Amino acid sequence: MSPFLLTRTLPVDATDAALRADVLHGLTRRPKTLPPKWFYDAHGSDLFEEITRLPEYYPTRAEREILIDRAEEIARASGALTLVELGSGSSEKTRHLLDALPALHSYVPVDVSESALRGAAEALLAQRPGLSVHALIADFTGSLQLPDTPGPRLVAFLGGTIGNLLPEERSTFLRSVRSLLSPGDALLLGTDLVKEEKVLVDAYDDAAGVTAEFDKNVLSVVNRELGADFDPADFDHVARWDPEQEWVEMRLRAREPLTVKIPALDLVVSFGAGEELRTEVSAKFRKEGVKAELAASGLRMDHWWTDSAGRFALSLSTAA
Ligand code: AVJ
Repeated sequence: MSPFLLTRTLPVDATDAALRADVLHGLTRRPKTLPPKWFYDAHGSDLFEEITRLPEYYPTRAEREILIDRAEEIARASGALTLVELGSGSSEKTRHLLDALPALHSYVPVDVSESALRGAAEALLAQRPGLSVHALIADFTGSLQLPDTPGPRLVAFLGGTIGNLLPEERSTFLRSVRSLLSPGDALLLGTDLVKEEKVLVDAYDDAAGVTAEFDKNVLSVVNRELGADFDPADFDHVARWDPEQEWVEMRLRAREPLTVKIPALDLVVSFGAGEELRTEVSAKFRKEGVKAELAASGLRMDHWWTDSAGRFALSLSTAA
């Protein structure tokens, strides 16, 4: 049996078609928007890794603290033989769970990036030779078909990435996760929590400007993939807390009136002076809200753990 299998569930040109559709839709509406998933080309993924080490960006450290402190409890509660990780990226946090799951049979990382999956699989197989790794190249917001590995399954969605989905997308996503769970399976969900506005805004507008560069990277992606002529220097990075929606928004604000050509879409887009393009929302949660959203999707929250400073939470849920 091969210790590493890779299944592509996305056609090779799916990414290109999805990017075109998102750019066409997002840049021809007001306010202009682009979905945050397009940040993560190789350079964007490197910048995100850099963000996780910034003094202002607390979520990664807070979540790691919970994973380290609670790995044994999570392992005991789930009894997992298969660990599925949605949006696994570098799988850096997964190591803590692996250590607590000595009987784990299979690891199923799911990511759109084949290079991230290969790198992560290599690192994890070095830590745990004999683990069966079945990587899936897939978009976790789409419908997933999991490989036939032994249960119970623990499906992990870490990093607070659920906060990058809009409320409607969140409920669609949670219902599709619910449909993956058999009796005895569980969902481990990372959610960043509502806190003081300055702490939140600083986490998305760091002094070193790494988040600003990350934000502007989406323009470089559109330039490279669709032949556009965005000049990232024409835009300012803006992070703002929306107290009604309880999310941080990242926006790119045009300094002057400008037009951008996007040849692959046969499109010219104009920005007025000060016009903003919303590139990301990052929702922050409260326990009761998470519980209610899970319940609305047929999931029951059985455990809720936070870091010692109460900044971030991991919850463990099962099919209701
Ligand atoms: C970890 C992907 C959820 O919203 O905090 C970091 C991405 N955006 N800085 C987040 C992000 C700006 C991030 N996720």
